[in-house]
This record gives sequence, C-alpha cells and structure tokens, in this order.
Amino acid sequence: MFENFKVPNELIPSDPRFGVGPSKVPMGYLSELLKTGPELLGTSHRKPAVINLVKEIHTGFREYFNLPDDYEIIIGNGGATFFFDMIGTGLVKSSSVHFTTGEFSTKWFKAHSKIPWIHATQKSTEFGVGVNPEVVEGHDMICCTLNETSTGVIVNKIPDVTESDTILAVDATSGAGQVPMDISKVDCYFFSPQKIFAGEGGLFIAFLSPKAVNRAVEVSALDRYIPQIMDWNFAIEKGKVFQTYNTPSITNLFFINEQLKQMNKLGEKEVIRLAEQKADFIYDWADKKEYLSIFVKEKEFRSMAVATIDVDDKYPVPDLVKSLRDQKVAYDIEGYRKMGRNQLRISLFHNIDIDDLIMLTEIIDLAITSES
Ligand SMILES: Cc1ncc(COP(=O)(O)O)c(C=O)c1O
Repeated sequence: MFENFKVPNELIPSDPRFGVGPSKVPMGYLSELLKTGPELLGTSHRKPAVINLVKEIHTGFREYFNLPDDYEIIIGNGGATFFFDMIGTGLVKSSSVHFTTGEFSTKWFKAHSKIPWIHATQKSTEFGVGVNPEVVEGHDMICCTLNETSTGVIVNKIPDVTESDTILAVDATSGAGQVPMDISKVDCYFFSPQKIFAGEGGLFIAFLSPKAVNRAVEVSALDRYIPQIMDWNFAIEKGKVFQTYNTPSITNLFFINEQLKQMNKLGEKEVIRLAEQKADFIYDWADKKEYLSIFVKEKEFRSMAVATIDVDDKYPVPDLVKSLRDQKVAYDIEGYRKMGRNQLRISLFHNIDIDDLIMLTEIIDLAITSES
C-alpha cells in the first residue's frame, strides 16, 4: 500500500527527522562546532578546553533543572543501558523494585535480576497503561522510568523517600527536559542525551542527591566486586572537577551544550509549555480521526515527549513509513519494533517544530484517505 502516494511539495516539512532517538540534531550545531577549529576536537578531556565545556554543561543543567546545590553531576560513557548495571553494582544494597511500563523499564529490571546479590521485583502494567512508583517495604531502591519510550507512558507522581533509607532512581532518558518531575525528590536522575537534549548516543548523565552519594560510599565499602569502569567514587570525584569518567566524544558534549543554551534561553517552564502544546495538538488530531486511536488511554499518563498512536490495521504502518522514508519526508515514525502493533510513534521533542508536526499529520491524513 501507499506505493503511488506522492507528498505534495507544499506539505514537505523543513526536516524529516521525527524519530524519538537518536533525535534531530540541528545542523547549526555542526557549523558552531566547526568554528572551534583545532581548539576543542582532538584535545585532552583532562585539559581546560574540554573541562570548560563540561563545566558549562554542568552549569547549564543546574540552571535548567534548578538542581539543589548539594546534588552532584556525573557523566560517563555507556549510556543509560550501561548505567542500569552501574546502579545495580554500586548503588543497590540488596533489593530493588521496578515499576515497569514498557520495554526499557523492563530491560532495567532484567539487568538487576541478573546481578547475583540483587533481589529484583517487577511491578508491571500492561503496555500502554501507566503506574506511579510507590515505596514497597523491604527494597532499598525504587526504580521507575519517567517517559517509557516504547509505549509513550509517563510517570506523573513520585513518592517522598527523603526520610527513609530507600533510594529513588529515575531513568529519564526520553523525558528529561520536557516531562515534569521534582528532581529534589529523586536521588538518582539519569538519562542518555540523544533525545530532548539533542546529543548523540554513548553517554550517561546523572544527577545525584547526597543520599545517593552516601549510598555509593556505603556500597563501595562492601566486599563486592565492582568493575573498574563502574567505580562510583571515581565518577563522583571526576564530576566535582568537571571531567567525564573516561574519554568522551567531544562532539557529543558540544551538541548537548548547544542544546542546553537554546533551552535555557526559554527556561524549563516554557519548554514544557511548548511540549504540551504539541502533545495537545497531536492527541487531538488522533482523537478526531476514525482510522487512528491514542494508545495511552489515561490522559494523565500520556507523554508530552513521545506520542504513540495506533492506526487501523487496514493501513499498514510499515508501508506508510517506507513511502515517507523513500520520499525523504519523514524518518523513524514507526512504533517500537518489539511492540508488534500497527502504530506510529512520533517525537514531540523540543527541536520538533510544531509547523512540521502539523504538516506530518496532514501528510498522514492525505496518504490514508488516498487509500480509502
Ligand atoms: C527510557 C530509555 N531508557 C534507556 C534507553 C537506553 O539508552 P542507551 O541506548 O543510550 O543506552 C533508552 C533508549 O532509547 C530509553 O528510551
């Protein structure tokens, strides 16, 4: 289907990248990088040029998220997937409980399940259904995913664990920056930067409360093997002097900093307002079309970062996606592969222009009605 569908010129978006990660990196960031000439790329990450860049990133995150002063920031290689294991080896004492709402939160649970000293418990919902984390007796860590990228389900309420010995850890990979959360209630808030912060894959970024730092010290004193690349004390020490754990991609750091500068010009409140505007638009569109249905039924759990929309089986999404990709009009708008649904999954990230989003919906309407 859709082999003969031709997108009219006036509907071609300014950029075809609508994927939920890796996400659209503005081309202007590359020209800015070029301007740094031989002063940054190819220089040591333990020397001033890169240290200053990392410092700017720390300052930018502190400003954007209004981070409590006593929170530490650590950055290292490996991304969120690596960080699941780093948390399991160095931050969990003996037991973690995982509130899972899709593939990524389940991956985190599975990572902890394989660590011999962790008793991991899964509290799962059916895909597309939301759940907020709660304190569960007997677990020293609560794990949840702010924005489940596979299903488009968010967490909108977190428990207060400040008085207990429990750590609250949040994987904020595709929500950080755009899905609201009171970070002062979170002990370990982490993400990979290739989503709203328009970096590339490969890094983890984490904000740690004093409680999380104390926990890292406590666990490192146990008689437990922790791989050298997962040394929490070293990561924290390096974070304090604006360095990454080991050698980073400097290009990636540069992109993140450019994006932070743009987002800080607006501030978190305004960025969230713009995200909600796009979310309102796309869910309203899906609600009105008889061939579409919003995957996440409960409004309070619907993401303002990743929209998941089922399409009537009469119109195969893989065919539609192929047609749009072949015409270089829209990339990466299919549902998460393992979900196995006839689904669209569309980025509402900060760099997605609302006019482009409107055009994309018009293209989809046109394509589907042309086959009806
Ligand atoms: C919510 C979430 N967690 C973890 C990951 C894994 O991130 P990475 O591939 O950077 O390790 C992803 C990737 O898309 C994600 O969306």
